[in-house]
Amino acid sequence: MTLLVSVGEWSVPHWVEAFRRALPGRSVVDAADAFRPDAIRYVAAWQPVRGSLARLPNLRAIFSLGAGVDHLMGDPDLPDLPVVRVATDDLTRRMSEWVVLHCLAILRQYDRYGRQQAVGVWEDDRDQPAAAEVRVGIMGIGVLGQDAALKLRTMGFDVAGWGRSAKSVPGLPVFAGAAGLDAFLARTDILVALLPLTPETRGLLNAALFRRLARDGRLGGPFLLNAGRGGLQVEADVVAALVDGALKGAVLDVFETEPLPENSALWTAPNLTITPHNAAMSAPDATARYIGEQIARMEAGLPPENVVDRHAGY
Ligand code: NDP
Ligand code: OXD
Repeated sequence: MTLLVSVGEWSVPHWVEAFRRALPGRSVVDAADAFRPDAIRYVAAWQPVRGSLARLPNLRAIFSLGAGVDHLMGDPDLPDLPVVRVATDDLTRRMSEWVVLHCLAILRQYDRYGRQQAVGVWEDDRDQPAAAEVRVGIMGIGVLGQDAALKLRTMGFDVAGWGRSAKSVPGLPVFAGAAGLDAFLARTDILVALLPLTPETRGLLNAALFRRLARDGRLGGPFLLNAGRGGLQVEADVVAALVDGALKGAVLDVFETEPLPENSALWTAPNLTITPHNAAMSAPDATARYIGEQIARMEAGLPPENVVDRHAGY
């Protein structure tokens, strides 16, 4: 079997090397090099050139190089084959680090003390809320959301989740669907978006939703964290909400257009922290090992794990 590594139009030798380490003795080729389309059985892809996967006649499965698959679902010629997303402990831990880091930074007013230090001000805050007094709401309570919820709970935060379908997660209130959204938002001081981008979730983080967040909390106003996808947020609404105080602050890792254009109003929006879509990167070795395991399952006649529901889009 040959595995094709396809990352946009780029040559990605570090990924090819990681797959050669994970699949010793197997043929691994870079889509930027010459290869025989009929030899390809599997593809590991990130934003592959549209239509390119349809030109592989003997393909058996498509592996996303990330947890998200919106970069594949947008291809109208995507072959009707299993699409497998990344779900590794390594990726999950990285995302939880990002979520916990920013929730703690908000709780402990990290930015404020940075600003004070810059101008030599010593001003203490004797009304510091406890983590237990801060309600975090995680939108998207899947693999990443559940791990982040567990770790935030360990830090003492009051955590709830929201997903598409009702589910039971020990010790965690989970709200579901449109019917559960109001109650979920009304008990949320820090909203953490870890949703996939689908036609249903596009534009969900908008002015109307921000107005439904709790305003009676110990942080003095709601905060937004988005590490799901840029298309979840209406960027003009985020800027306006930061300016008029509907949001007290935000941390965004993902954007409609990446890299974030120089002229984006987000660069200068108040109380906004921007991270460059690196909340949880797919580390080549951990990802290649995981995809190698899925290929081994398929070759043993078992279905791969974490197959995307093509209808739901994630
Ligand atoms: P999962 O598929 O495990 O979880 C997705 C969650 O979103 C589920 O709880 C699902 O609900 C919920 N969901 C999906 N659609 C809706 C909807 N319409 N309404 C309400 N809830 C919905 O995905 P992961 O946790 O592994 O990853 C989530 C996303 O994180 C990825 O798709 C990707 O976009 C992003 N990501 C970003 C990274 C970064 O560095 N910024 C890195 C990795 C991932 P249900 O439980 O009912 O199925
Ligand atoms: C992913 C990402 O989807 O890195 O894994 O965005």
